[in-house]
Amino acid sequence: MTMEFEVVKGDITRFQADAIVNAANKYLEHGGGVAYAIAKAAAGNVAEYIRISKEAMKKQLGKDHIEHGEVVVTPAMRLERHGIRHVIHTVGPYCGGTWDEDRKDKLRKAILGALRKADELGVKSIAFPAISAGIYGCPLEEVVKTFRETVEEFSKEAKSVEKVYLVLYSEESYRKALEVLNG
Ligand code: APR
Repeated sequence: MTMEFEVVKGDITRFQADAIVNAANKYLEHGGGVAYAIAKAAAGNVAEYIRISKEAMKKQLGKDHIEHGEVVVTPAMRLERHGIRHVIHTVGPYCGGTWDEDRKDKLRKAILGALRKADELGVKSIAFPAISAGIYGCPLEEVVKTFRETVEEFSKEAKSVEKVYLVLYSEESYRKALEVLNG
């Protein structure tokens, strides 16, 4: 399957894709960053989306937390007006400014888990935020490289997913990501 990987600038809660991914924490608390923005945009009320997410986690995984590579799917609710059908929650590594092979592997698993779930759901287009590059403090350059490698790896097994977007929120992060990919 030929798969396209594109870096774009924008707000993921307004992006048009079949599924968007949330950079969540392991308890799906959606307290800040893109998680808060998605919860607010989807349900109007963040506490309500946290409740829905935890309930979905219990149902889908039978436990109250997720590991790197595990994902939980919640409905898009109000995000459906942009054509989004699913929100896929995944957990990236915490870096606090450092980077190593272990963190890279955790990020790879987080991305791959979301891509595989999207494929299972029959999704054609999926949009990711720069998982772990915000509050979790991983270097954006390494995050972007890991995305490129993981999407390439996944393209060999994909059945439904045709287009993967990495949505960068700020102009600066968008430019940095383009530099990594082009240079
Ligand atoms: N659209 C696209 N990207 C966004 C948006 C948005 N609306 N809002 C923030 N971002 C970007 C940030 O600029 C950053 O580059 O998403 C990237 C990921 O940042 P965080 O949301 O801080 O995610 P992460 O670093 O993975 O930290 C996860 O933060 O929100 C909490 O519950 C979450 O505890 C978890 C932690």
